[in-house]
Amino acid sequence: MDAEEQRWQQVDAWLGQLIDEDEALVAARTNERVTRPGIEVTPLAGGLLGLLARAIGARRVLEFGTLAGYSTIWLARAVGEQGRVVSLELDQRNAAEARANLERAGVSAWVDIWCGPAAQVSTRMVEGGVQPFDLAFVDADKANLPTYLENAIRLTRPGGLIVLDIVVRGGRVLDEKSDDEDVRGVQQAITAASRDPRVEGTALQTVGAKGWDGLAILRRVD
Ligand code: SAH
Ligand code: DHB
Ligand code: MG
Repeated sequence: MDAEEQRWQQVDAWLGQLIDEDEALVAARTNERVTRPGIEVTPLAGGLLGLLARAIGARRVLEFGTLAGYSTIWLARAVGEQGRVVSLELDQRNAAEARANLERAGVSAWVDIWCGPAAQVSTRMVEGGVQPFDLAFVDADKANLPTYLENAIRLTRPGGLIVLDIVVRGGRVLDEKSDDEDVRGVQQAITAASRDPRVEGTALQTVGAKGWDGLAILRRVD
């Protein structure tokens, strides 16, 4: 980590005084037994997800990519016990770790983790006509991001929010000839969103404890 990245991390830690984390959140964030430890959202980003969900009075939340359930706990606490969170995760091992963390956080009664490839699972949800969601958080693999975006749009109510965790990958999102499938996925999803009359929104680059990253926040228009 270079000196500048270290400063981003220190500022994240200092701003983190705004964030209340209990031991269940810390345990989910520091879980080393999942397939990709350390790629969960930062505490500040978790706080943003919770705040957005509360701000729109969300009761139903759909998540793509559970890992150890860190962001899931934030969303579950925001919707409260009358709400529902459905989180889609490919890996059974991650799902098992997440279930234990959700249990510890006291939110497992209103969270479902559905194990399988999120593209197929979410397409089945669209076809099955599930009750619409108030907020979707899309944070699984980036290669399938265009499919996740399309299904998230179809599964979100008018006025609902779709948050895309996008990786900026050192600015490589600008490389039009990139053959990195994650970069391609982010490029295609942002272009698709920009042309799609069903959504309006914006995106932010972020620096912090996880380096240089980004978030797109879209609203399903009425
Ligand atoms: N939202 C989590 C982090 C998710 S990391 C948090 O902030 O706490 C991305 C997750 O997506 C990983 O757990 C990975 O196993 C999962 N994933 C990767 N490819 C997937 C796929 N095709 N379908 C569903 N989940 C997938
Ligand atoms: C990766 C994925 C993410 O969602 C993220 O926030 C950071 C990194 C990755 O696939 O490397
Ligand atoms: Mg992410």
